[in-house]
Amino acid sequence: MFYITRRERFSAAHKLWNNQLSESENNEIFDKCAYPNFHGHNYEFYVTVKGNINPKSGYVIDAKQLKKIIHERIIDKTDHRNLNLDVDFLKDVNPTAENLLFYFWKELQPEIDNEHRKLFKLKLYETENNIAEYFGPEE
Ligand code: NI
Repeated sequence: MFYITRRERFSAAHKLWNNQLSESENNEIFDKCAYPNFHGHNYEFYVTVKGNINPKSGYVIDAKQLKKIIHERIIDKTDHRNLNLDVDFLKDVNPTAENLLFYFWKELQPEIDNEHRKLFKLKLYETENNIAEYFGPEE
């Protein structure tokens, strides 16, 4: 079994906020990330695909194809954008690293999974010290 990882980067603005909570609760939970006029991160995003070698190509997944999928589904929609306002699949989502990975998974999995390979893991560096990983929903 092989695990193939592609790294991509995007820079985006966000503000962490839960509309169900009061202003003081939001400020207590999200602190600086709740500042009203947004702030930015340089995200690093890793997509890992698990599978066997396709005998025709010698690849589990062609890196060019994986790059194209990640760009079309995620990077083109998030890079230099506002994650709270600009991304169609993140409407009304509080853009924590965890929530980003949850929705990124839904975007990527249908494009990646087939009988030979499966999306295995997503990893997001919000900063070099804050990192989230997601292995998909429990089945
Ligand atoms: Ni932030």
